[in-house]
Amino acid sequence: MIRFDIITVLPELLESPFNHSILKRAQSKGLVEVNLVQLRDYSTNKHKSVDDYAYGGGAGMVMMIEPIAACINDLKSKRQEIIYLSPDGQMLDQQLSNRLSLSKNLLLLCGHYKGIDERIREHFITREISIGDYVLSGGELAAAVLCDSIIRLVPGVLSDETSALYDSFQDNMIAPPVYSRPAEFNGWKVPDVLLSGNEKLINDWRFEQAILRTRQRRPGLLDE
Ligand code: ADE
Repeated sequence: MIRFDIITVLPELLESPFNHSILKRAQSKGLVEVNLVQLRDYSTNKHKSVDDYAYGGGAGMVMMIEPIAACINDLKSKRQEIIYLSPDGQMLDQQLSNRLSLSKNLLLLCGHYKGIDERIREHFITREISIGDYVLSGGELAAAVLCDSIIRLVPGVLSDETSALYDSFQDNMIAPPVYSRPAEFNGWKVPDVLLSGNEKLINDWRFEQAILRTRQRRPGLLDE
């Protein structure tokens, strides 16, 4: 069982990803618990605002320390990691998702506006994660991506226990091509070996294809 607490000003944005398909099933099976926390509930001001002008001036609002500190202090007991989603964080990859999937609980903080007061990053955050070199409007979509990549690795979440093992990147390799019926469409044929019924030949072919694809598309992975 892994528990996610996600601090956000837009919990609605995260409801849908957790309420469908694999992520929904993972929760109903009791393998994963997701707690969406509205940051505004921790604002002490009457407009429930959580942002303010930046000291020193400049465009853009900054998320204030007080509501975030109150919220984290409320949730953090025994949390192993407090993760801030940010484009300047450590780049997410399969290895990091594997490592985080072994956690008991993760606290995620989604930022907005121009950023969060630096003191939060200094004193509360234990890890900063980016999902890529581009800027999103907020951390929510990044949090959804991070949670999805972790949750599908939790044992029992995928119906075929082994299927996550064959994912792209799991062995620093791209997954081989797959086919389904019909065996021929428009004259385009499924490779004969896949119809052979010979498990050894099929596995060898898949391994070769994975190497070939990785060499063609992501040669850097093979050096790692
Ligand atoms: N917040 C805004 N952009 C982001 C990114 N690329 N990764 C993680 N969090 C973000």
